[in-house]
Amino acid sequence: MPVGGTSGSSLYRVARLLIRAIGGYRLYEWLLERQVLSGPIPAHVGIVLDGNRRWAEERGLPRWLGHRYGADRLEEALRWILDLGVRTATVYALSIENMERRPREEVDRILELIRERALKLAADPLVHSKRVRVRLIGDRSRLPPEVRGALEEAERATEGYDSFFLNLAIAYSGRDEIVRAARRAAEMVASGALRPEDIDEELMSSLMYTGGLPDPDLIIRTSGETRLSGFLLWQSAYSEFVILDVYWPEFRRIDLLRAIRTYQGRSRRFGG
Ligand code: FPP
Repeated sequence: MPVGGTSGSSLYRVARLLIRAIGGYRLYEWLLERQVLSGPIPAHVGIVLDGNRRWAEERGLPRWLGHRYGADRLEEALRWILDLGVRTATVYALSIENMERRPREEVDRILELIRERALKLAADPLVHSKRVRVRLIGDRSRLPPEVRGALEEAERATEGYDSFFLNLAIAYSGRDEIVRAARRAAEMVASGALRPEDIDEELMSSLMYTGGLPDPDLIIRTSGETRLSGFLLWQSAYSEFVILDVYWPEFRRIDLLRAIRTYQGRSRRFGG
C-alpha cells in the first residue's frame, strides 16, 4: 500500500498540482502542512526505518555511510514529528534479528552510531526545552556496556519529563517483548500477587515496554517493504500502516506530512 495522492477536496488537489508545477516543493510542503494541521494529529507514531544499505549501495557508497546518513535523517525527522505535536514516537532502530544475522562489523558500526547519537540526545537542548522523555525499549542485556550506558544516560537525563516520549527500539523484538510480559504475569501469579483470571489485555499492555503510553495510531515504514518485522506486535493491533517508497536516508518532511494525511484520510473503526 504505497502512498499515493489521497484525501482532500478536489480544490485542494488542483491547488496542489498547480503549486507543484509552478512553485516547487516549498510551497507544496507549506500547503500540505496547513492541510495536515487542520486534521487529527496522531498521538503516537511508530517508524520502521528501512533502506539505509540499499540507499548507500545504489550510490556506490559503503553500507556504514548509509547508516550514518540514516541517523542524521532520524534526528531531523524527530524534530519534524515533535514540531507537528505528535506526543509519542517509537523508532525501530535495531532488532534482535539484525544483531544476530548481520555481519559483526556492520552491527558494531550501527551500535557505535547508536552510542554516539544517544549521548547527543542526552545533551540536546531541544529534548530538554520540549521535555522529551527518552526510553530504550528492547533487551538491554544484549547491548555492549558502553552502548547501554549511553542510552541509559539519555534515559536518566530525561526521566522527569512527560510532555513528549521518544522510545528507541534497540535489540528489540515484538515476540520477545510479549514473552517477557507473559513471564512477568506468570511470576505475579506464582507469588500470589495475581490470580490467573486477573490477566487481561489491560494488564498485558501495562507489562509491555510501552506500558502507560497509547498504542501507535500510525506506523510508517520506508523503502516499500510491507512487513512489520516484529515491530510493536502487541501494540499495533489497530495501527494504521503507511508504506513509503523512499529509502530512509532520503525521507523528507513532505513524506511525513503525506503519511499523516493518508492516516487522516482513513477511517479507523477499531474492529467496529
Ligand atoms: C535499516 O536499514 C537500518 C538499521 C538496521 C540501522 C539504523 C540505525 C540507526 C540509523 C542509528 C539510529 C540511532 C539511534 C540513537 C536510534 P537497513 O540496513 O535494513 O537497509 P536495507 O533495508 O537497505 O538493507
